[in-house]
Amino acid sequence: MHSAGSLPRMEVFDQLAEKYQGEHSHNPFQSALVERIAALLPGGTSVLDLGCGTGVPTAKVLTESDHRVVGVDVSEGMLRLAREQVPAAEFVHADFSALADDFGRFEAVTAFFSLLMLSKADIERTLDKAYGWLQPGGYLAIGMVNFDGDSLPFEFLGVPVTVSGYLQPDLAAVLEAHGFTVDSIETVSFTPADGPEESQIFALARKPA
Ligand SMILES: C[S@@+](CC[C@H](N)C(=O)[O-])C[C@H]1O[C@@H](n2cnc3c(N)ncnc32)[C@H](O)[C@@H]1O
Repeated sequence: MHSAGSLPRMEVFDQLAEKYQGEHSHNPFQSALVERIAALLPGGTSVLDLGCGTGVPTAKVLTESDHRVVGVDVSEGMLRLAREQVPAAEFVHADFSALADDFGRFEAVTAFFSLLMLSKADIERTLDKAYGWLQPGGYLAIGMVNFDGDSLPFEFLGVPVTVSGYLQPDLAAVLEAHGFTVDSIETVSFTPADGPEESQIFALARKPA
């Protein structure tokens, strides 16, 4: 089960695993949303975490709340930490945008600061896939950076990447255009351990029952 798709590139996050975790794993807005999902789901249900990174906080909080987590990441460096820190979860080395439509069925899909590494077209294709992986009534939780752009070059923790983003009303409209009902969406200000301050959007949406 849960076989990996193709891996198109060497991942930048291989170089960033420890540094990313040190600076970003204490985001209280992300932890609050993960805890909210953990409480909303009936015990023992399955969650797919797209771009799971080091497993902290998302997979850790969810498995500690007795949910089953499948985390997918393209970076072996991030997955190495995830496997050490969250042994109760299953981790898959794959490009989540290339996962098969029948990869699995889940009560929730989470994607914190991972969709933003795709182009807008690929973000929207992945939203359609996530819709397909969700059970009716299932939750989609995402974290994004609050800006408008498509595959813009950006230096992240000293490493060149490309990032895409939407302003809050546009993100809500994109989720709705792909069939989701938006339960909550908020823009917050988070400062990683080493700064600078980032404007972020957290959204919780549902596939209609
Ligand atoms: C900014 S980090 C966020 C990690 C984690 N979600 C968290 O909140 O701590 C983005 C993660 O997404 C992963 N990622 C980006 N694009 C991906 C893709 N197409 N398939 C799988 N993983 C991807 C990166 O390797 C990285 O681990």
